[in-house]
Amino acid sequence: MKRRGFIKKSGLGAGSLFMGGSLVSYIVSCTKTDMMNGGNMNMSGQSQPVKEGDFNRLLPIPGTVPVNTTLNAQATTANINGSTISVLGYQANGILGPTIRAESGINTNINFQNSLSENSNIHFHGLKIPADMDGHPKDIINPGSTFNYKFTINQRAGLSWYHPHPDGDTASQVFKGLAGLFIINDAEEAALNLPSGSFEIPLVIQDKRLSSSGITYNPSMGEIMTGYMGETIIVNGVASPFTEVKTKFYRLRILNGSNARIYNLALSNNADITIIGNDGGLLKNPVTVKNILLSPGERLDAMVNFTGLTLGTEVFLQSNAFSNGGNAQGTQGFKILKFKVTQTESDPFILPAQLSSLDPINASSSSKTRNFIINSMQMSAGMNMSGIHRINGKTYDKNRIDETVTANTKEVWIFNNSQGNEPHPMHLHGVHFQVLERSGGRGHLIASEGGYKDTVLVLPGEIVKILVPFADLKGVFVFHCHNLEHEDDGMMLQYQLI
Ligand code: C2O
Ligand code: CU
Repeated sequence: MKRRGFIKKSGLGAGSLFMGGSLVSYIVSCTKTDMMNGGNMNMSGQSQPVKEGDFNRLLPIPGTVPVNTTLNAQATTANINGSTISVLGYQANGILGPTIRAESGINTNINFQNSLSENSNIHFHGLKIPADMDGHPKDIINPGSTFNYKFTINQRAGLSWYHPHPDGDTASQVFKGLAGLFIINDAEEAALNLPSGSFEIPLVIQDKRLSSSGITYNPSMGEIMTGYMGETIIVNGVASPFTEVKTKFYRLRILNGSNARIYNLALSNNADITIIGNDGGLLKNPVTVKNILLSPGERLDAMVNFTGLTLGTEVFLQSNAFSNGGNAQGTQGFKILKFKVTQTESDPFILPAQLSSLDPINASSSSKTRNFIINSMQMSAGMNMSGIHRINGKTYDKNRIDETVTANTKEVWIFNNSQGNEPHPMHLHGVHFQVLERSGGRGHLIASEGGYKDTVLVLPGEIVKILVPFADLKGVFVFHCHNLEHEDDGMMLQYQLI
C-alpha cells in the first residue's frame, strides 16, 4: 500500500492508521471535538480568505502551439504579483504552459521533457485517447527523461486541458504552476462563426498561496482533508488582472485549474452569462444564467455581451458568495478579473438558437449500474475508520482493477455523497458522460451540465447519476475526485475497459 499524503504528513507508517495507533486516536478525538463544534468533520474545516488585488496588471494570453510541440516541465520564474518568483512552467520564464490548438482528426506528437527534479507526466484531461497516452498516474517519466505523446484527436470541438498526474505528486506540481489548455476545433463549431481572435479569451482561473520567493505548497493535515486553497486568485498566471474590451460579444473559454477552490462565477453588473459549452464541447442550445458554479477540472464556454456599455465602464468577472460547498469553501464573494470598456464598435453578432446537433443518449440503453460512496469519512459502530477520502471504502492501488467494463457498452454510474460534508468534483479519464440526475443538495442539474462532461461536482448531501458511453479504448484508466489533495490522498480508483 502506498503511503498517502495524510500519513506522510503525520510521519507515521501506513499500518498505524488502521491498527489503533496514535493517529487513529488523534483522528477520533479530533472528530469528536469537531462534531461538538457544530458537526463538522473536516478536521480543520477552515476557509482560506481571498485577498483581492488592484486589477492593474494586464491579463496575459498564453501562446498557442500546434500538436507537434515540446512541453518542457521545469523550475523557472514568473511575475505573478509584481515581482519575479519561483514557479513551475512548461517553458522557461513563465508559469503554466502554451495553449495547444488542434483540428479534430489530426495526429499529435507532443514531446514531453521532464526537467523537474521529480517524476512527472502529462494527463490530457478531456481527451478520449488510448490508455498508454493518457498520463495514467503509474506511467511516470523520470527526471531528465522524455516521452512522446502520440495519439489521434478523435472527438468534437471543445476545451480540454493538460496537467501532471504522477501518483501522489499531482497536487503540488499543478499548484506550483503546471497546467495548460488544449482547444479542439471542428467544422460544426466553425459554422457558428463564434467570436474569435481577440474576442475569444481563454481564462485559466486558479488560487495560489504566494510568498516573496515563490508559490507555497505545504498542506497541513486539515488541508489534505479539505483541499489546499490560496489567498491570491490568478488568471492566466497573473494576480487580479484586467483586460480591455470593445462593445461587442466575447467568448470566454474558462477552466477552473485550482486544486480545491470552487467559484460561483458571475458578472459584477449582474449581466447574463450565456453558457454555450462545457467540458465536452458545445451544448445543443445556449442557456442563460446570472451565476454558475465551476469546480476544479470543469470548463465553461460562455458568451458575455458588452454591447451598449459606455466607454470607461468596468465590469468584473467575480465569484459570488455561496454557502453549500462545505465549510472549507467559505462564503466569501470576490472579484477575479476586470473588463474595461475602451472602444465602441458595433457588433452584428447573433448567437444561433441551436449550437449543435447533439442528442441525449437514452438512459434505458444502459447495461449496468455501479454505485460509488464518496463520503469523506465513514465511522462504523466500533469507531473504526472505514474511509478517509475513499471511494467505496478503497484508496488508489495501481495493482488493483476496481471496475471491469465491457467496451462499447453504456453504464449508469452513481456518485453518492449523501452522508458527506465535503464537495467532490468527480472525473473519469477516457470518456465523456451525460449527467442524468442530481438528488439531495441542489436537487437539480445546472445550466452547464447538459451535453457531455468529464467532471461533475457532487456537493455535500448530493447523489449524482451519470450515463457513460464507453467506446473501445481498451486499457486501464483512473477515475477520481478532482480536489487534487483528495486525489493524491487516494480518492482514485481504476477501471479497465475490456
Ligand atoms: Cu484533470 Cu485525472 O485529472
Ligand atoms: Cu474530493
